[in-house]
Amino acid sequence: MAQNIDWGSLGFGYVPTPYNVRCTYTNKAWGELRVCDTPEITLHISSAVLHYAQECFEGMKAFRGKDGKVRIFRIEDGGRRMQDSCRGIQMPELPLEKFVEAVKKVVELNADFIPPYGTGATLYLRPYMFGSSPVIGVKPAEEYQFRILCTPVGPYFKGGVKPISVRISDRDRAAPRGTGDIKAGLNYAMSLYNIVDAHNCGFAENIYLDPETHTYIEETGGANIIFVTKDGKLVTPKSDTILPSITRRSLVSVAKDYLGMEVEERKIHKDELKDFVECGLCGTAAVISPVGKITDHDKEYVFNGGNEMGPVMTKLYDTLTGMQMGRIPAPEGWIYEIK
Ligand code: PLP
Ligand code: COI
Repeated sequence: MAQNIDWGSLGFGYVPTPYNVRCTYTNKAWGELRVCDTPEITLHISSAVLHYAQECFEGMKAFRGKDGKVRIFRIEDGGRRMQDSCRGIQMPELPLEKFVEAVKKVVELNADFIPPYGTGATLYLRPYMFGSSPVIGVKPAEEYQFRILCTPVGPYFKGGVKPISVRISDRDRAAPRGTGDIKAGLNYAMSLYNIVDAHNCGFAENIYLDPETHTYIEETGGANIIFVTKDGKLVTPKSDTILPSITRRSLVSVAKDYLGMEVEERKIHKDELKDFVECGLCGTAAVISPVGKITDHDKEYVFNGGNEMGPVMTKLYDTLTGMQMGRIPAPEGWIYEIK
C-alpha cells in the first residue's frame, strides 16, 4: 500500500506496485497492450531468453512536481533506444506509439506510487523485452514479450549526492565491435562479478576502459561519465562501446544551451584524469552522482576535495532536476505531462 511507504528512506530496490502493462509478439505481429495486476510471468522451459539472453530493457522516470503535475522524461528517446537494442539482438522493434502508450499507461495506473514532491524519490519505469518461444540451437526466438513495470525508488548510490569512490576496472563490460552500445541484459550479466568485487573492495562502481586498448575512459557499469576541466569545460567520452545515455545527452544540451559552457565529446585518455576538477556519473538511476575519488591501482585522483558535489555538477544537477520537476522549462519534446 502506497500510504505505508516511507518515501524519504527508499533505496534503489523493487517495491511492489499494483499494475504492469504487457504486449506479446506472435505470428510476426505485436498484439494489443494489456493491463495486468499480477507480477508473475509463465514461461516455456526452453524460452530463448533462458539460454541465450535474448533480452533488452530501458530505464525511465516519472516525477511529481511542486505543482502536483506528473512529468515523464524523454519517453520517445527511450523508445527509440529500445528499438536500437532490439535490432542489435535480432528482436522485433516495438512501434514507438505503442511504447509511449505503455509508458503513460503504467504511470497512470500506478499514480498512487509516484513519490510526493520533495521526498527525493521518483517512480522508476522499467520496460523490457525478451524472446519467449522455445529454441535449442542458437537463433532468435519467434515470439516475444514486452513488459513494463514501475517501482518507486530513492538514490541509486547510498548517500544520494555524497561523492562516491570508484575504481578503474581490470575487466571489460563490452567487446570491441560488440554490444556495449545497446541496453541488452547480457552486458549487465558481464558486469556482475566485477560489481560484487568492487563493492567487496570498498568501491561503489567500476570505470571501464576501452576494450581494445585499455587506455581510454569509457563508462561505469550503469552510468556514463562527465568531467569538468580547470577552465570550466564539460568533457565526456565518445566511444562506440558505451551506452548512449539519454541523461548525458540532456546534460550536454543543458551545459551548452542553458549554462553557456563549452562541451567536448571525445576520447579521454586515462592519463588526463589528473587534469579534471570535477567528475560525475550520469544516468536515469544515477541522475548525477558526484565522484569524489577514482583509484587506478596505485594512483588516486580526487575531485573537488572529495567530500562534496562541485559547483558545475551542482548547476547541471539543479537544472536537469528542475526541468524534470517542472521548475524550469525544458526543451521541446523532453517532458510528457500527465496531469
Ligand atoms: N550506461 C549504462 C551502462 C547504463 O546502464 C545506463 C543506464 O541507463 C547509462 C549509461 C545511462 O543511460 P541513461 O541516461 O539513458 O539512463
Ligand atoms: C538506468 O539508469 O535506468 C539503468 O538502467 C542503469 C541500471 C544500472 C539501474
